Amino acid sequence: MKKKLNIGMIGYGFMGRTHSNAFRTAPNFFDLPYEPVLKTVCARNAEKAQGFANQWGYESVETDWRKVVESKEIDLIDIASPNDTHHEIAIAAAQAGKMVMCEKPLGRNPAESEAMTAAVEAAGVPNMVWYNYRRVPAVTLAKQLIDEGRLGRIFHYRTVFLQDWTISADLPQGGAGLWRLDASVSGSGVTGDLLAHNIDTAMWLNGQIDEVTAMTETFIKSRTHTLTGKEEPVNIDDASLFLARFSNGSLATFEATRYARGHKALYTFEINGEKGSIKWDLHDLHRLEYFEYSPEGKLRGWKSIHITDGDHPYMSHWWVPGLQIGYEHTFVHQAADFLTAVGEGKSAAPTFRDALKTDYVTDAVLKSAKSRQWEKAKLAGEQKQ
Ligand SMILES: NC(=O)c1ccc[n+]([C@@H]2O[C@H](COP(=O)([O-])OP(=O)(O)OC[C@H]3O[C@@H](n4cnc5c(N)ncnc54)[C@H](O)[C@@H]3O)[C@@H](O)[C@H]2O)c1
Repeated sequence: MKKKLNIGMIGYGFMGRTHSNAFRTAPNFFDLPYEPVLKTVCARNAEKAQGFANQWGYESVETDWRKVVESKEIDLIDIASPNDTHHEIAIAAAQAGKMVMCEKPLGRNPAESEAMTAAVEAAGVPNMVWYNYRRVPAVTLAKQLIDEGRLGRIFHYRTVFLQDWTISADLPQGGAGLWRLDASVSGSGVTGDLLAHNIDTAMWLNGQIDEVTAMTETFIKSRTHTLTGKEEPVNIDDASLFLARFSNGSLATFEATRYARGHKALYTFEINGEKGSIKWDLHDLHRLEYFEYSPEGKLRGWKSIHITDGDHPYMSHWWVPGLQIGYEHTFVHQAADFLTAVGEGKSAAPTFRDALKTDYVTDAVLKSAKSRQWEKAKLAGEQKQ
């Protein structure tokens, strides 16, 4: 019999569902050292939390996260609540000796992220941040191709994350579902919410970002706040664009907005190297476009690789070659990798320290947008295992 690993889930919204699904599904497809148990789900509304617990199979419900953190029964705290809650919960969980998984961004600002990183490392507890796009098999394959040197020296990295759901001036800010528009809860707008994903993937694939120059805009300057009922200033960035230099000498453009009419979640990246290029698009997430320069000229061209074969990352765990998987599987892969790492007494990447690196870049972006100068990203160093 496998050892049980009891999970305390904080939040039952969008991410509470993806994580719960991941823990339920992972043991059916991966050989894991632990059996994840959906022990307790925590949210402030007991009735709604109970409904969620019934649907997903949680054994109990709590309305105060402190009780979950203090519970002797819980091994792992999984933070799937809004950004203003991450800091306090993660630090308390680490101090209670729990393993900690946290949604991105780690904190609302570098001070929170640094304190969270220090807490999990001082406690020596396994930790991980849910930057799930690393575990799209096509993105993992991109990492393998780059590490094998197939692109050669990298010159360019180009990436966007486009949405259109906040264009209406009638959309309120704050409260359930709209906390992303309230900077006191979210920390920032699209920089921390969307570009954080692009930055995490970019630094994983192409190394450290050294410096950035950015511009941001808040197109709708005030909105009704759902909690006060009053018209209040909007303090988030609605759009954020920046240029970056990586340590390896390559140049990058990053763009994110919630004002790109027609786009719901268009996350793309393209990387151009001396020996080839790759591009990827979340809307076609099971394909990797690959251009290889080495064949004779008349045979050169872009290949569209369908990432569904048994020798593609993660795919041997799923169906038969040719059948694709989707968004939710990225979380299943991340849960499986975390439980496997815990079996070896380790954290899984991206760790809190990896996520701190991303938060240092988003901080440099926001600083640069204000200063109108190039800003250097602070370096985070490596986690001591
Ligand atoms: N990895 C990704 O791709 C991804 C996608 C979406 C959101 N996120 C991140 O996940 C986190 C949650 O986002 P979401 O979209 O799931 O939000 P959501 O609004 O759908 O859900 C938030 C949940 O947190 C609960 N909650 C709020 N305050 C709480 C408190 N004090 N104690 C306990 N529970 C509390 C709410 O009741 C709700 O169940 C955010 O940090 C967000 O940035 C990550």
